[in-house]
Amino acid sequence: SKDVYILGIESSCDETAAAVVKNGREVLSNIISSQIVIHRKFGGVVPEIASRKHIENILPVIDEALRQANVKLEEIDAVAVTYGPGLVGALLVGVSAAKALAWANDKPLIGVNHLEGHVFANFLNDKDLEPPFMALVVSGGHTALLKVTDYNSFELLGQTRDDAAGEAFDKIARVMGLQYPGGPEIEKLAAAGDPQAIDFPRALLKEDYQFSFSGLKSAVINYLHNEQQAGREVNKADVAASFQEAIVDVLVQKSVHALQETGLKKIVLAGGVSANKHLQTALADAVGGIGASLVHPTPILCTDNAVMIACRGYFMYQNGEYSPLDLNAVPSLKL
Ligand code: KG4
Ligand code: ZN
Repeated sequence: SKDVYILGIESSCDETAAAVVKNGREVLSNIISSQIVIHRKFGGVVPEIASRKHIENILPVIDEALRQANVKLEEIDAVAVTYGPGLVGALLVGVSAAKALAWANDKPLIGVNHLEGHVFANFLNDKDLEPPFMALVVSGGHTALLKVTDYNSFELLGQTRDDAAGEAFDKIARVMGLQYPGGPEIEKLAAAGDPQAIDFPRALLKEDYQFSFSGLKSAVINYLHNEQQAGREVNKADVAASFQEAIVDVLVQKSVHALQETGLKKIVLAGGVSANKHLQTALADAVGGIGASLVHPTPILCTDNAVMIACRGYFMYQNGEYSPLDLNAVPSLKL
């Protein structure tokens, strides 16, 4: 059968990205223009600046993705683009570019859910991966357990009631004076700390697949405050390690439970927090203990990229799931 080339476009937050993926599993190009250093001096993403930078970068990034893939626009089978969730002004840049390209070249347009995209990053790492499997989605804005029953059908088991895992990493990093984004900074600092030093709370809600991280966040902030009040020097590495341990502990326990309840033998990690090596190791060990296995994306595909969008788009293309040319950005799109 004929090879299928999908152009993926991603602009939901602070990465302008484009990629070409062949037959859903082969990366021909992966261009990411990150705005992290620009937003860093503000301590987080400034939506207005993000939109403006996306506008400057989107066409050069798309051109470069096609050039590196050595594929012409005419040879592309469909244009896949993130249409949510994310920052509305940021999303609109990618969506507008994708609509223009699809219309001008008479190609199908495919609107992709960013979170489903994160899950599909795993198909690039494990070429034999196929549904059904469990997905633990841990990004900056979302924390969820998702059952992937088939390439185009999902069942949301549960999600966070308050903060997302990545959000907790970012907020704690901020109060500790670490730079944005906080996840990688906490992970680095934690490497030199004792994860058992401080017993931070683990919210294991009775609702099987729901998460809550706001109590943990408050506990860490209170701890730092109390130590400061008492005039004691805080061991930041111990705080980082103990905090990371508490988050990972909850994510691992809930994931193991989900595998036991559903009988699924495979779980994948999805979203920025999946780049965390301690989470990867702890989860691999725990699921290994019940005869299941873990797949996670390679580091560059853990955080935001367009390869995952092209990959998700490929399976939607195979299913004829096209979007109309009046596709709009949906900032609060759900899983
Ligand atoms: O998926 P992503 O790049 O963007 C969203 O869709 O939100 O995720 C970004 C989140 C941020 O909260 C960041 O701090 C977190 O992923 N993150 C990490 C690590 N790398 C990125 N969290 C923990 N450990 C890491 N190594
Ligand atoms: Zn993301």
